[in-house]
Amino acid sequence: MKTTQTKPLILRYFLLSLLLSLPFLLLLLFSFQPHHLRRTTTTSEQTQQPNNHTTTSSSEDLRIRPGYSSYENYIKRQLGKTLNPKLRKIWTTRDWDRKIQVFSRFFDELKKKNLLSNSSKSLCIGARVGQEVEALKRIGVSDSVGIDLVPYPPLVLEGDFHNQPFQNETFDFEFSNVFDHALYPENFVSEIERTLKPGGVCVIHVALSRRSDKFSANDLYSVKPLVKMFKGSELVHVHQVDGFGLDTEVVFRKKQIKAIDGSSSLV
Ligand SMILES: *[C@@H]1O[C@H](CO)[C@@H](O)[C@H](O)[C@H]1NC(C)=O
Ligand SMILES: *[C@@H]1O[C@H](CO)[C@@H](O)[C@H](O)[C@H]1NC(C)=O
Ligand SMILES: *[C@@H]1O[C@H](CO)[C@@H](O)[C@H](O)[C@H]1NC(C)=O
Repeated sequence: MKTTQTKPLILRYFLLSLLLSLPFLLLLLFSFQPHHLRRTTTTSEQTQQPNNHTTTSSSEDLRIRPGYSSYENYIKRQLGKTLNPKLRKIWTTRDWDRKIQVFSRFFDELKKKNLLSNSSKSLCIGARVGQEVEALKRIGVSDSVGIDLVPYPPLVLEGDFHNQPFQNETFDFEFSNVFDHALYPENFVSEIERTLKPGGVCVIHVALSRRSDKFSANDLYSVKPLVKMFKGSELVHVHQVDGFGLDTEVVFRKKQIKAIDGSSSLV
């Protein structure tokens, strides 16, 4: 089609002038854009949806990421990663032994500190294909299982960490390195405290010094929000670790004695 030939002259002048002014327009646009916007506009994932900053503890050191318009929307996105066949292949092949080795080292350290033993009934939260569950079993913690949105039997059962599929006081030990995936961090924590036995231990690996992946639902900048949320537990330790991009290990122990009103105290 010879459309250019048939275009009216005036249109051609208009297009030409538009073309010439384009660099100036872009320059103008760029210089007026606030700094904090410039960073986020590089990824298409961070859309400008309304969100519920106020529904969870949005203290300075824990921020819920914008972009999830509903819980269904959030689940869909998490499933997108968990079900990605390429990732699942890598997790179960190339990553498998390497990750089990690293997890085994973490768990051995916890054993030495008497925070974990062979007889601990254990849960790994957000375990995907269950490398951490396999690691626990290999070091002798035989009664171990994982949960994730997508099951990977027999190591990982289906379950949402916002609403664990277990009865109260089921586990002696819980481990998770997916705290950043929680859309409702308070539920994530209260479910752990609910399903741990009194005296049970929870070990969480988080990234404080760097931002996690695009599937994260929150950003954590210090351990303070965690300590505040684990209100029925006491802080055991905070250690530096090198765990697949996560830099900090935070360990809690659920308090032994529960008051009648449900709040934990020393009576
Ligand atoms: C945000 O809050 C509204 C109303 O309280 C609720 O309907 C909606 O599901 C919430 N969105 C998310 C992502 O939780
Ligand atoms: C725990 O299990 C491992 C592996 O089966 C075994 O080597 C170790 O001796 C056990 N530890 C105790 C205290 O029984
Ligand atoms: C389980 O624990 C939750 C939270 O601590 C409590 O509200 C609920 O009543 C308990 N359920 C049973 C069956 O004990």
